[in-house]
Amino acid sequence: MTKYKGLAFINTIGCQMNVYDSEKLAGILNSYGFEKTQDMDEADIVVCNTCSIRHKAEEKAFSFLGRFAREKTRRPHLITVMAGCVAQQEGKKAFDRLPHLNLVLGTQAFSRFGAHIDALKSGTQRIVDIEESDMIFEALPDETCFEENKVSRFVTIMQGCDNFCTYCVVPYVRGRERSRAPEAILEEIRILARNGIKEVTLLGQNVNSYGIREQGLSFPGLLEKVSRIEGIKRIRFATSHPKDLSEELIHAVRDIDKVCRHVHLPVQSGSDKILKKMNRGYTRETYLSRIRALREACPDIGLSTDIIVGFPFETKEDFHLTLDLIQEARFDSIFAFAYSDRSSAPAAKFSSQVEETEKKDRLNQLLELQETLTEKKNRAEIGQTLGVLVEGFSAKERDGFVKPSAKTRQMTGRTESNKIVHFASDGIKIGDLVDIKIEKTYPHSLWGTSAADQCWERKIK
Ligand code: 5AD
Ligand code: SF4
Repeated sequence: MTKYKGLAFINTIGCQMNVYDSEKLAGILNSYGFEKTQDMDEADIVVCNTCSIRHKAEEKAFSFLGRFAREKTRRPHLITVMAGCVAQQEGKKAFDRLPHLNLVLGTQAFSRFGAHIDALKSGTQRIVDIEESDMIFEALPDETCFEENKVSRFVTIMQGCDNFCTYCVVPYVRGRERSRAPEAILEEIRILARNGIKEVTLLGQNVNSYGIREQGLSFPGLLEKVSRIEGIKRIRFATSHPKDLSEELIHAVRDIDKVCRHVHLPVQSGSDKILKKMNRGYTRETYLSRIRALREACPDIGLSTDIIVGFPFETKEDFHLTLDLIQEARFDSIFAFAYSDRSSAPAAKFSSQVEETEKKDRLNQLLELQETLTEKKNRAEIGQTLGVLVEGFSAKERDGFVKPSAKTRQMTGRTESNKIVHFASDGIKIGDLVDIKIEKTYPHSLWGTSAADQCWERKIK
């Protein structure tokens, strides 16, 4: 009798691309006879899909996998896998800290994952596969493991990055930029639509340069083709690099009905001196001019950004330029990070590093200011009627604070500009696009009521 129950647990750390990659890993495991479980104690295979963008994420991966050292003595056949960016970066060094680890699976080794699992099941103790490759691993979504009531999915359209921002590990752990073939992307989205998915988010480190080198189709061209897929109601994308945000893309956001009016445009800093040291390829003024162009084309567009504080050489004056920029740009939301030194990225060698306490202090100042700006922006939505894609029932309802018998149910969804909206509704289904009148705001969400308890199809016939 086999000692394996056929169960695998996957822990995903990091970005949306890792969420997508974990779905692929789950699909491979499924085809090798291992179903996904939510209970790591009963799993035969434990995978940690890792992120190395900041020190904290990397530590999280080591600490999660470290927990299984003792479990392995109790269950020697347990297979432990480190996948993704930390695996690519560490290679066999990962065994120094995790001697019980079985497989180190780099970012470009997914096509061999199944074969490695077979070898480990047959008694091999340690495998390291961090071979680099220009190929993109292609596998269509596994239609047998679609989650019920899931509305939105990520679709990676390109991998790697050629931008070499001086703080960033991505070009080193994910390799050179390469785009997937349009037909593979479209086929994947058709399968998602067939299985009830209503919204796709197209992912790449710099979607603006999709296809330029090898596919003969630009990113706006791809958006147009995706928008023709029946069943898909909304299309989002991330991330756009400010230096490559073209007029053509701005027009696509304005003109293609299904493309959400929301752009995530990481600025990183408001100081030209710091932007130059980061190798970002734009100035504060060119960034702000892109924001103006987006707002001119779509006045109601939602904008979000990423910011790093405490980058080497950042003085208080530079930091104040960042504070000043967020006031001028009026973002709906920001993702802010204290600079984390990564030994494989060039900035690790920069002198003039900023003290950790100073970084934390700047981060708090930035977040505090953005909170007031977000609140102001959210308040401006009161009285507006916004289109919301319904994603599910609100946490309150899920946690049992609302009687299931109540006629009015509490649901949650997102606006085009990516704001979370809670609303009371009768007769609305998950996956509907509904019209919600905003009545109240909370720090991180809006509250409203359904304008009419019927399917809302403002732009989509
Ligand atoms: N330290 C802090 N933040 C970083 N990011 C990337 N590298 C680092 C680093 N070394 C941030 C950037 C990027 C986001 C995904 O993570 O803001 O846009
Ligand atoms: Fe990293 Fe810069 Fe590439 Fe973004 S554009 S992944 S920050 S190197």
